Amino acid sequence: MSGNKVYIFDTTLRDGEQVPGCKLVASEKLELALQLEALGVDIIEAGFPISSPGDFESVDQISRVIRDATVCALSRAVQKDIEVAAEALRAAKRPRIHTGIGTSDYHIRSKFKSNREDILARAAQCVKWAKNFVEEVEFYAEDAGRTDNEYLARVVEAVIAAGATTVNIPDTTGYCLPTQYGEKIAYLINNVPNIDKAVISCHCHNDLGLATANAIAGVMSGARQIECTINGLGERAGNTSLEEVVMVLKQHKDLNLYTDIKTQLLNPMSRLVADTMRVPVQPNKAIVGANAFSHSSGIHQDGFLKDAQTYEIINPDEVGAEGSKIVLTARSGRSALAYRFQKLGYQFNRNDVDVLYQKFLEVADTKKEVQEEDLQNLASQYQHGSQLALSEP
Ligand code: KIV
Ligand code: ZN
Repeated sequence: MSGNKVYIFDTTLRDGEQVPGCKLVASEKLELALQLEALGVDIIEAGFPISSPGDFESVDQISRVIRDATVCALSRAVQKDIEVAAEALRAAKRPRIHTGIGTSDYHIRSKFKSNREDILARAAQCVKWAKNFVEEVEFYAEDAGRTDNEYLARVVEAVIAAGATTVNIPDTTGYCLPTQYGEKIAYLINNVPNIDKAVISCHCHNDLGLATANAIAGVMSGARQIECTINGLGERAGNTSLEEVVMVLKQHKDLNLYTDIKTQLLNPMSRLVADTMRVPVQPNKAIVGANAFSHSSGIHQDGFLKDAQTYEIINPDEVGAEGSKIVLTARSGRSALAYRFQKLGYQFNRNDVDVLYQKFLEVADTKKEVQEEDLQNLASQYQHGSQLALSEP
């Protein structure tokens, strides 16, 4: 097991871009790559150069400008793919070829109409071929999540012997439970004799909503690279979300693992990706959703206003979010109402708030959220009413 740093391999521009409707042009990919580098990701998977001339151009352009991060290009276990990936990476300061093949029996029998021994030989061959072009070669064992562990260990040993510097263990179909995925990584660490010569990588899909949990289970078992995307974009239900794994590791100091991500840039990066790819972020998304720091029920609001940590485990500044919000709905309480009036400059005492609260509930029951102008109306009606009461004979 190598050190406590977890390398962040961002695949927003490759697996993320595979989402229907997310296709990017080269200039958009370049802009996102520059921002990913600023965010502090270690490896940027820039694309799949053989897939289209446009993607080749993107990888080439990104390779020319990125200087701190490793630039990675995907290929199948096909000689021509690898050559084209190497060509697209020619200008990169730190190039990496990511090549691989399916290793589960589903892939071996149905996709390749082949057998385990031939696939094992092809796996080692593709790594050897890629090694002719670059030092950093990452091998992916597609559908490793459903691959028999004993066979997977043989494949991993063979590709490391062939020169792979990173070995990716994808849960391509998002099938594994966190315990199963963690045990798979532990099995490889304990049963592959040359495992110390490579970094193990987690690439988990989210078909059962377990991608983040699985990636964390992987690093807890000794993997030291996580493949992830901004906002969790990716094939079908998506990939492990970068912002989630980074913040899990930051919050859980007990894991004694860290990344080099500048977490204050997480929310701006999320917005940039959402806008560029035209995929809005779900409001309840962890870390970057619009509601991630909103409090709307009376019980929560009261606790939060007494001490933010009662209901917030992350300070919004730490992830570049706008700040905590006290949202007013029919479930909100008096403390929240008083707080929002105070923010608008009104100094109401307890009795005032009691009266205003009844009026507030009448309004709140008619709408999803009580807005600032509703509060202004309530306040002016109330002040006007009290003045009338005072001036009555
Ligand atoms: O999900 C997967 O298995 C992949 C590989 C190409 C790494 O995206
Ligand atoms: Zn994938």
